[in-house]
Amino acid sequence: MGNVIKKSIVGIVVGGILFGATNALGFPFVFQALFFGYAMLGAIVFIILDLPTLKPFGGVKAVGALIVFYSILSVTFIAVGSMWPQYDPEDEKGKIDKILKPKREQYEAGKVDVLLQRAKALDEKAKELTARLQALGAAQAPADQKAGGGAAPSATTAAASGDLAKLGEEQWQLQECYNCHKLNGEGGKKRGPELDNIGNLLTAEEIAKKILDPKSYKAEGFEKEFEKGKMPDKYKDLMEPGDVQALAGWLAGYKNASVNTPKPIKMK
Ligand code: HEC
Repeated sequence: MGNVIKKSIVGIVVGGILFGATNALGFPFVFQALFFGYAMLGAIVFIILDLPTLKPFGGVKAVGALIVFYSILSVTFIAVGSMWPQYDPEDEKGKIDKILKPKREQYEAGKVDVLLQRAKALDEKAKELTARLQALGAAQAPADQKAGGGAAPSATTAAASGDLAKLGEEQWQLQECYNCHKLNGEGGKKRGPELDNIGNLLTAEEIAKKILDPKSYKAEGFEKEFEKGKMPDKYKDLMEPGDVQALAGWLAGYKNASVNTPKPIKMK
């Protein structure tokens, strides 16, 4: 009997410690009770170990005992189990929703606020850009008028001629003149003459004529040296008049006398 009391006390002490520890760790009360229950269960097992051993028995008696033991175990298990609070998922969902709903609403409201703020910031930026563009336009207008007046050598004209030269070079690349003609030391394959000195031999107008009608000029002696590779008669169909002029003007700027561009002879 003294043994039973001793083990019960140990069980209660251990259960108390577990109860306190789980409480300190913030476990819900149900779990604290559960841990206390485990400690008491342990104590009971140790107490049972000390009980006097039963006389061995068999046959129908043993089967009956087994059934009784199983029944007690099942009833205890089911009873204790149903004593614990039952969790209905729908119930829990409802509880969680109740907690989350105000937070969600707060979040949605916050999101709208942020979006509104961003829209406002973008709007301001757009206004700023428009203002800057308007300021630029205002600065441009008087400058254009001055250029139109023809007082000073205008920057617009320089820019325009720069653009024209660029257009000419673009046409040189686009029409693939470099396939036959060397220029700036690039291209050629010796099918057509090097053109670096063409500006000293032909005017822009004459070059344009040559491009539009390759038979109008013949490079002197060139056909003797390089039989094949006659200049194609297709550019008048491929190129806009403005493009031909740009290309011819650009080529007329090449006046490098150290390059031996053959003399063109007027044919028609
Ligand atoms: C398939 C080869 C070929 C292509 C492509 C070609 N040419 Fe020619 N070009 C020649 C040949 C060959 C000559 C020399 C014979 C002649 O004058 O017809 C020549 C002559 C010229 C001449 C006169 C040169 C001189 O010294 O008399 C000019 C200018 C010229 N080409 C410009 C161009 C331009 C600009 C292009 C591009 C739009 C071009 N060529 C495309 C073959 C070509």
